Amino acid sequence: MSKTIVSPSILSADFADFGGAVRDIEASGAGWIHMDIMDGSFVPNLTFGPPLVRALRSRTKAFFDVHLMITQPSRFLKEFADAGADVITFHYETEIHSQKYLSQIKEFGIKSGIAIAPSTPCSALEEVLPYIDIVLIMTVNPGFGGQKLIPECLEKVEKMVKMREAANLSFKISVDGGINEQTAEKAKKAGADILVIGSAFFGNSDKQGLINRLSS
Ligand code: DX5
Ligand code: ZN
Repeated sequence: MSKTIVSPSILSADFADFGGAVRDIEASGAGWIHMDIMDGSFVPNLTFGPPLVRALRSRTKAFFDVHLMITQPSRFLKEFADAGADVITFHYETEIHSQKYLSQIKEFGIKSGIAIAPSTPCSALEEVLPYIDIVLIMTVNPGFGGQKLIPECLEKVEKMVKMREAANLSFKISVDGGINEQTAEKAKKAGADILVIGSAFFGNSDKQGLINRLSS
């Protein structure tokens, strides 16, 4: 079985010290960094934009997992790609012509991802699956770190595994929201390939141990 990817989210980092957060993530052995971009419109919270992604790009070679929670993300795809994103994931709920934008992201030479909120069914993605490198299944309603995982969302992971098999595709399945050591086990069992982890990562003093356990 291939190793599980763990993608610590800097949403739970000290906002006065993102450079320190990147060092902590690197020291933990996690190769990915999850960046939550929020616009106060699609979700009721505001975070940061391309300038921070670009600033952190100069500090690390880690894989930048950029999660856009913004309305009309197509306006900003190029900016995030130029800033150094390695994958750009946008929400299915935010663009009608998602196939077009998934293809556009791939034309930038990076990976494409699509996210679905808890109330969006997996079946909504059926037609665009061939254009996707990562399907991100939100396991909380997007907007804030530190929420409790909605157990029914893990059933969507199982469904997505079946859809992937049926379509003979190889995209990865990511889960985001309320992931800790306990829920991570359930998510992995359901078939998740990537675990996004915010508060449970930054709240743990043994980050390396945590990453070792989650990724095995
Ligand atoms: C929530 C974000 C998540 C968040 C997860 O809308 O998309 O990436 O950082 O944080 P935790 O792990 O604390 O639920
Ligand atoms: Zn996220």
